[in-house]
Amino acid sequence: MEKWKFIVTTSAKGEAEKGEEAQALATELGALYVPRNKMPMPKLKETYQTDTVVLVTREGIEADTERGRCFFHLNMAQLRTQNIDRGAGDHMVEAMGLKEGMSVLDCTMGLASDAVVASYIVGASGKVVGVEKSPIVHLIVSRGKADFVCEDERLTEAVKRIQAIQGDALEYLRAQADGSFDVVYFDPMFRAPVYTSANFKPMRSIVETDAVSTEMVREAMRVAKYRVVMKETKDSEEFARLGFTKRCGGKYSRIQFGVMEKEDYDG
Ligand SMILES: C[S@@+](CC[C@H](N)C(=O)[O-])C[C@H]1O[C@@H](n2cnc3c(N)ncnc32)[C@H](O)[C@@H]1O
Repeated sequence: MEKWKFIVTTSAKGEAEKGEEAQALATELGALYVPRNKMPMPKLKETYQTDTVVLVTREGIEADTERGRCFFHLNMAQLRTQNIDRGAGDHMVEAMGLKEGMSVLDCTMGLASDAVVASYIVGASGKVVGVEKSPIVHLIVSRGKADFVCEDERLTEAVKRIQAIQGDALEYLRAQADGSFDVVYFDPMFRAPVYTSANFKPMRSIVETDAVSTEMVREAMRVAKYRVVMKETKDSEEFARLGFTKRCGGKYSRIQFGVMEKEDYDG
């Protein structure tokens, strides 16, 4: 049996109503569609020699990975927006210097938690575009946000307004005009993973682990009107390697934001 990077099927209960959708999705992704036929997950993985199964369920799209299930959820975004509303602030928002009406290009969208917070702040008069290289992660977010509803209408709208693009950050940056976004943001997979982050566990199997390159930073500085921001672990050597001299973040946090201001940049 051929080995597959991932296959597409339905949940066991959703086969009758979701079969066609799963088939269409497999075609879109250039992946193999497998009719579920009530096959247990371990048997499916063994038969098709794969660790990852993309599932079309009645609730949306999920990826069953060797580290658990990955699906669209707000993660910390809801708590962060509530804290912001209480006046507690948010380190990413401060690092970006975000205000209503601004535009943000998130080059590493992931499950879009940061993009949701950014979208909440910039509001309907602003713009958040998220680029994600992993087709599965992009799919989970683009379908997840379309179906998303929560009690907080402002948050629901913020989620829906994010423009989710599948592609490589550098290629996307190269195609953008000078100064076309106020802020360009990178949150790559950390070079030294923070293993206590349980929310990222299943995601690790389906993400791309590209490091930010000096060319990406150069392009980002061209595309940004005000600044480029990068999230990494506090002691990461990536900040120095890429030329982020200014840092912000919580005193006791393991995470920091490197900030490169346009006015200080000499290329
Ligand atoms: C740490 S996650 C981002 C998490 C995100 N900030 C959030 O709040 O959910 C990094 C993401 O960047 C994606 N990625 C890695 N290299 C990329 C590239 N060259 N272009 C676009 N996305 C990339 C990964 O697939 C992964 O989903």
